[in-house]
Amino acid sequence: MGKEQLKPPYFARLLNGHILNHVFHSLLFLVGLSLGIIFSLLYLNAFSFNSQASILSPLLPPSPSHLMHNMDDDELLWRASMVPRVVKCPYKRLPKVAFMFLTRGPLPLGPLWEKFFKGNEGLYSIYVHMHPSFNLTIHEDSVFYMRRIRSKIVEWGKPNMGDAEKRLLSNALLDFCNERFVLLSESCIPLFNFTTIYNYLINSKESFIESFDDPSGNGRGRYNKKMLPAISVSDWRKGSQWIEVNRKHAIEIISDNKYYELFQKHCIQHNCMDEHYIPTLANMLFATQISNRTITWADWSRRGKHRPAELEGASISIEFINHIRYGKNCTYNGENTTICYLFARKFMPDTLQPLLQLRPPLLEL
Ligand SMILES: *[C@@H]1O[C@H](CO)[C@@H](O)[C@H](O)[C@H]1NC(C)=O
Ligand SMILES: *[C@@H]1O[C@H](CO)[C@@H](O)[C@H](O)[C@H]1NC(C)=O
Ligand SMILES: *[C@@H]1O[C@H](CO)[C@@H](O)[C@H](O)[C@H]1NC(C)=O
Ligand SMILES: *[C@@H]1O[C@H](CO)[C@@H](O)[C@H](O)[C@H]1NC(C)=O
Ligand SMILES: *[C@@H]1O[C@H](CO)[C@@H](O)[C@H](O)[C@H]1NC(C)=O
Repeated sequence: MGKEQLKPPYFARLLNGHILNHVFHSLLFLVGLSLGIIFSLLYLNAFSFNSQASILSPLLPPSPSHLMHNMDDDELLWRASMVPRVVKCPYKRLPKVAFMFLTRGPLPLGPLWEKFFKGNEGLYSIYVHMHPSFNLTIHEDSVFYMRRIRSKIVEWGKPNMGDAEKRLLSNALLDFCNERFVLLSESCIPLFNFTTIYNYLINSKESFIESFDDPSGNGRGRYNKKMLPAISVSDWRKGSQWIEVNRKHAIEIISDNKYYELFQKHCIQHNCMDEHYIPTLANMLFATQISNRTITWADWSRRGKHRPAELEGASISIEFINHIRYGKNCTYNGENTTICYLFARKFMPDTLQPLLQLRPPLLEL
């Protein structure tokens, strides 16, 4: 019985029958629909500037495909400060960490960072703020290729440092996948592999902002009474410039103009903006949500110096690195941990080779 049904005449009959006719029409409809979708996608794609991802795959939120926009700072801050009010996110998004490099010139430790990022595509984005007149050729294969943002001149210790930090945060906020934002300099190194650092940051309940009251001349001494009544000396805090924040706090920082204007006007002493603005702002706006410690290590052991030590190639050894990695106890999400630092500075260019040659390798952990 089964055999008979498979004979060709059966199919010939079917071909003229209603069933196949129906199937045929359905197929035709589906082909037409697909073509329509494909053409509209192609059409839309050709005219979209920065939302390719969202059109090609509804699973991904729109990520800016290039960083060279024409927005001035005001427009950039305004766009970056927008927050979706619908709580449920329609995209399946993998949260990314934004690595924001605030540098004077090139990145002498670039090869180390290339190794660090390798194999972790999709979990990070890089932003580089560099002196605008610096001409740098970056190879297409580099993770830093096309990651330079529109930058302006920065004088270390001067108020325009705050502008550069806000510019970096704003560019990084334009990518909705970025969940954590870490500020780094050209002398910074990672202390652990990408996976360890990524998990530490993504799972943290706090932003890593150091913020403490320093009664000395380099702390409260930099406070200016003209900031009253908005900022009193009891609000005043000091802390490392090298911060790491979550998305919510990044938006708070770039959206603040009230306190920022007071800092620009009245905080003109050296290092006033970079060491006090964010620690004070965080203390005033979200004090209970920060770690009060920095995750970027520096060598302050030389007494009486206002700057951390600059580390040379000769000082690099695995013992030294492990001392930085595990030499302190602190808390993480309310638990004790020996991993307090994820990054370290100030590593001079001649530390690159010793760092790459460490055994066991620096980035194995
Ligand atoms: C970069 O290149 C431009 C034009 O090619 C030149 O005017 C400028 O001086 C260069 N800057 C540096 C720092 O070399
Ligand atoms: C940081 O200090 C504030 C008080 O200034 C406190 O509320 C907060 O709990 C501290 N954060 C941690 C992680 O201890
Ligand atoms: C950190 O805590 C552990 C266990 O509580 C202790 O053995 C170690 O000495 C501490 N390390 C430092 C640097 O205080
Ligand atoms: C964490 O360390 C402190 C001392 O630094 C200790 O008093 C406390 O009991 C520890 N907490 C846990 C959960 O081990
Ligand atoms: C990164 O470090 C963790 C923790 O030490 C380790 O388990 C993991 O295998 C390392 N990953 C890579 C890719 O080296």
